[in-house]
Amino acid sequence: MYQSQISGVGKYVPENVVTNHDLTKIMDTTDEWIQERTGIKERRHIKKGDGNTTAVMGYKVAKIALERANIDKDDIDFIVFATLSPDYYFPGCGVQVQDMLDISTCPALDVRNQCSGFVYALSVADQFIKTGMYKNILVIGSENHSGGLDMTTRGRNVSVLFGDGAGLAVLTRCENKNKGVLSTHLHSEGKFVEELSLIGPSTKYWVPEIIKENPQENIPYYPQMNGQLVFKNAVVRFSEVINEGLAHNNLSAKDIDMLIPHQANLRIAQFIQKKFKLSNDQVHNNIQKYGNTTARSIPIALTEAWENNKIKTDDIVVLATFGSGFTWASAIIKW
Ligand code: UT7
Repeated sequence: MYQSQISGVGKYVPENVVTNHDLTKIMDTTDEWIQERTGIKERRHIKKGDGNTTAVMGYKVAKIALERANIDKDDIDFIVFATLSPDYYFPGCGVQVQDMLDISTCPALDVRNQCSGFVYALSVADQFIKTGMYKNILVIGSENHSGGLDMTTRGRNVSVLFGDGAGLAVLTRCENKNKGVLSTHLHSEGKFVEELSLIGPSTKYWVPEIIKENPQENIPYYPQMNGQLVFKNAVVRFSEVINEGLAHNNLSAKDIDMLIPHQANLRIAQFIQKKFKLSNDQVHNNIQKYGNTTARSIPIALTEAWENNKIKTDDIVVLATFGSGFTWASAIIKW
């Protein structure tokens, strides 16, 4: 059995900044409401014509992370791409990135686990390294939310939350048994499937059918969320899955050097911080600048914490997430 460690991280965000004030011009909302309930001040949205797509941003961030990990693209054994907003219905973004990187062939897999996508993808990659099958794996999270949000007052409970961009970790085989990804813990509870979902277009709701069956005021092809139910489940599941990871490794909250929570809502992150008695230096949040970016929120916050020298060798880094499905997950990493 081998161990896997993160040998490079990277983030990419589109240049176009959309502030809360910008949103007040197109829907009935306020900067005060958004900041008070979520902590978000601004987010990035792809601008028409800037060339960005979910796969393109995944490619851009792959270039950065490979350089940092000092790994040649031809040494990549596997690409695992997490997104809920792929360029195409099929094929997935993983194969697009493989082509953009000019890797002649390599396996590529898309993971569709929404806000838990990155930790699920990391866990998949970790298993392939642990068994000895692969040495270097790109684990990408990338989202283009802005292309599919209802940017009117009708969709404001969802659309003010989300932003675009990509984050990535290069996972590499390491011989030291006490380093790297110590464990991952994954969960789902499908009874809440429609509480945070985008149900059409899909094989169940093809576009012509939606148009025929649904009057304009009830369009099911935008994301929908039961915010309060999601919030209540999130705070419970975040805590459970962090405790599960710590207990599995005979660690306690006192051992956490850095917690990177999925950036769903600053209030959720602050609740968890308080519960585990962590200082501001032990938690990294950036939802204020980027909004909720789903599968790429953890890698982008992880990258930022690393770039700001907030993560040091041998630190215990905890990744934790909760989202649509419902799904939730954690990873315990010795850096
Ligand atoms: O990443 C995946 C996981 N996602 C999450 O964890 C999100 C969890 N949920 C939340 O973060 C919160 O539920 C939200 C921030 C989404 C919403 O906050 P809330 O305190 O639960 O608000 P609410 O949905 O109960 O809405 C309260 C009021 C409503 O008006 P009335 O009925 O009280 O008159 C909404 O219509 O706020 C209204 N509202 C808004 N007002 C201004 C909803 N969205 C907005 C908005 N601007 N953008």
